[in-house]
Amino acid sequence: MESDVVKKTVTTTSPKETRALGYALASSLRGGDVVLLSGTLGAGKTCLVSGLAEGMRVQNPVSSPTFTLLHTHAPQNTDGLFLHHMDVYRLQDADAFLHLGFYDLITDDAVVFIEWGCQVRDVLPDDVVEIRLEQISDDAAEDNCRHVTLLAPSSKADRLVKAFEAWEASPRAADDI
Ligand SMILES: Nc1ncnc2c1ncn2[C@@H]1O[C@H](COP(=O)(O)OP(=O)(O)OP(=O)(O)O)[C@@H](O)[C@H]1O
Ligand SMILES: [Mg+2]
Repeated sequence: MESDVVKKTVTTTSPKETRALGYALASSLRGGDVVLLSGTLGAGKTCLVSGLAEGMRVQNPVSSPTFTLLHTHAPQNTDGLFLHHMDVYRLQDADAFLHLGFYDLITDDAVVFIEWGCQVRDVLPDDVVEIRLEQISDDAAEDNCRHVTLLAPSSKADRLVKAFEAWEASPRAADDI
């Protein structure tokens, strides 16, 4: 990651809110963006991607690519972006990741999301965007809360931080997405 990173954290209180956050972020993404999703098992990475996919208006609902490693969703409209959704949890080895053809996925008409991307961080582009999801506590009253932290390289920070701020400022009802 570039040394100059801008950080912004918001809190979601339900899976629906995390999906709504993803939906809100979708329009701030550009072709060629690579987004690393970090967080423990069940933190909400796939949940966020499902909202992003809705916002990007791609085909087919999102499911976890844990076994297949890569799901590609084509845009519904010809001017939309492809969404490549990877889960590298089972891939400990960065070489295996590169052999999957990761760099061929980075194109002007696609965005790449990588769950467990920390495991291959060393071979990711310098301007990778990280979104970190953290369960705040095991306490029953808070176990649906997640801190969602954007770590954006300065070259991409303006548009992405704005989207986080817009989501934070707006009503969070996810039922309307
Ligand atoms: N605020 C929240 N945001 C997202 N998910 C939440 C939230 N609160 C509770 N959950 C629950 O946490 C789980 C998140 O599952 P999800 O598959 O998105 O996690 P993941 O990070 O992709 O896990 P894995 O590492 O296994 O791929 C779901 O069961 C969801 O209902
Ligand atoms: Mg997942």
